[in-house]
Amino acid sequence: MKTIDSVLSEKTMFPPSGTFVEQAHLDQEGLRSLREEASADPDGFWLKQAQQLVWRTPPTQALDQSQHPFVRWFADGQLNITESCLDRHLTTHRRNKAALIWEGEPGDQRVITYFELHREVCRAAAALLRLGIKTGDRVIIYMPMVPELVFAVLACARIGATHSVIFGGFSAEAIRDRINDAGAIAVLTADGGYRRGKVVPLKHNVDEALKHCPGIRHVVVVSRTGQDITMHPGRDHFWNDLVKAESGHCEPAIVSAEHPLFILYTSGTTGKPKGVVHSTGGYATQVAFSTKYVFDLRDEDTYFCTADVGWVTGHSYIVYGPLIHGASVVMYEGAPDAPHKGRFWEIIDKWGVTIFYTAPTAIRAFMRWGDQFPRAYRLNTLRLLGTVGEPINPAAWIWYHEQIGRGRCPIVDTWWQTETGGMMVSPLPGATVAKPGSCTQPLPGIAVEVVHKDGTRCGPNEGGYLVVTRPWPGQLRTVWGDPDRYSKTYFGDIKVGGRPVYFTGDRARFDEDGYLWVMGRVDDVLNVAGHRIGTAEVESALVSHPHVAEAAVVGRPDELKGQAIVAFVTLRSGHSQTPETAALLKDQVVREIGAIARPDDIRFTDALPKTRSGKIMRRLLREIATTGKAVGDVTTLEDIAVLQRLSASDSDEE
Ligand code: WTA
Repeated sequence: MKTIDSVLSEKTMFPPSGTFVEQAHLDQEGLRSLREEASADPDGFWLKQAQQLVWRTPPTQALDQSQHPFVRWFADGQLNITESCLDRHLTTHRRNKAALIWEGEPGDQRVITYFELHREVCRAAAALLRLGIKTGDRVIIYMPMVPELVFAVLACARIGATHSVIFGGFSAEAIRDRINDAGAIAVLTADGGYRRGKVVPLKHNVDEALKHCPGIRHVVVVSRTGQDITMHPGRDHFWNDLVKAESGHCEPAIVSAEHPLFILYTSGTTGKPKGVVHSTGGYATQVAFSTKYVFDLRDEDTYFCTADVGWVTGHSYIVYGPLIHGASVVMYEGAPDAPHKGRFWEIIDKWGVTIFYTAPTAIRAFMRWGDQFPRAYRLNTLRLLGTVGEPINPAAWIWYHEQIGRGRCPIVDTWWQTETGGMMVSPLPGATVAKPGSCTQPLPGIAVEVVHKDGTRCGPNEGGYLVVTRPWPGQLRTVWGDPDRYSKTYFGDIKVGGRPVYFTGDRARFDEDGYLWVMGRVDDVLNVAGHRIGTAEVESALVSHPHVAEAAVVGRPDELKGQAIVAFVTLRSGHSQTPETAALLKDQVVREIGAIARPDDIRFTDALPKTRSGKIMRRLLREIATTGKAVGDVTTLEDIAVLQRLSASDSDEE
């Protein structure tokens, strides 16, 4: 208790309440012994955590790093992850418990029990088998947030097909590139989806993409909006037509723990998205472990995560983690302000949500909309709040704690990445004294350090590179089709003790209490509203426009979105620097990538600041985008006049 006392003297610390601690899976003592267990024998620790899953052949070994940086976990184990998510619950009191509580944006609702979810997944899986889709095939899922999205993900897992979910906001071009990179043979989609009352033409986007995807043999279409779509005979099938012929039985394909469960594309520092590959057994172990302890999940909980299944958060903490534990998961289709700005709070009251997980960018939007929206609701069932996606600024943390948690709920600020599969650094809500803005400490079994470029450890409050020094079960196994890129991107930069370690791409510091503060990315990846966007991707979208000669994209701090996208563009001769051209270029990015990557600001210039060797000096552009002028070191700049012209150039910001 001594440590608690000493930290309590500091006003900005938030210990969990006594009532929370009493019922928590882990209190301080429990956490201490779990940490000790994990550091004394990491393999034994993770093997024990793996027992949270249903195995057909339980693993006898944990980490195999003989081929480092290529690692394997639980490699002699065999399982089908859907038995952990579904079948095991059917013989318990959870059989008729709500698995999914779904709300459509227009206000429709569906409650699906574990028994029903199992049946729907089996029917869909059987239908996929009948189409000839086999274990190891890749299947693209491009759907709105409807229950069929969860059925589709689990149906693929049931038959051992590797799924790759593409966020519904991506464009036809982005879909095309991902389909071809994955070598997928089928696409599961819907006619459309609702977003702020409008209909997103998903099937139409797929049709456009498939003009250049020779490998796709089947398209399965869920009817959601009922709008007119074109069905290609032989290739396209309606979901309902396929599943209605199937019974509720489908034997699970038993796969090795290392079988690729899914590929998820994410932004890197080049223009080409990376297919992050996750395994089955290791991934499932890490999400089962973190879901249980970080969310302190219990059978009585009703859990609501506002992410989209198109991102890793939705994979790990809407689908796999909560279902492994037999939780009731609230899933909402639409936007937080549709049809009114209290929609999330209404959902929490309506279903008695106890655990709520969202992103800092959303919290900042709620703050801006005003306290009257949450205040109109009771929110008295909530007992735990979480955030993910970017550093949460202390003001937003405090607002979340007071206005949503009503001063009663611990907040878990969870740091992790698409590549880590599950949470890595986070408070444990019954044990950790929170400091707003810090994701606190690594989870038991996770070895995270902050180091200098040469691999030596940084001192307290000294900023450095955030690395993971020991492989963890949920670690990505490779970049799909490009193992070299995997080694170079993640293990090419930093060695600790002479050995390559996983570099996260983030900069961070540990404070004097050993609390971690993540300070953002060090590379050319932006974090816009919690979504990773590679500057190179936006640049390549811009230069694909015939008017553009050259483009450089940087981030500018943004109160709401964390970062905003600023593009510096030089045009080919004969094209004029007009607001119309700027609008055209923004549309070009939306067409190539999707609305999430739309530049906030396009600034025309007749030249970009470059070093004598021709490298664009992004640091200067960042300064100009942020403060309007560049004051840093410009000695390597080739043409100093460029800077003066850039600073003087007007922004086209609307
Ligand atoms: C950032 C999302 C600070 C970080 C699960 C990381 C965070 C990137 C936090 C991964 C947090 C995520 N505090 N920063 N709690 N959570 N990040 O792959 O920069 O979409 O590298 O995964 O988001 O984003 P990704």
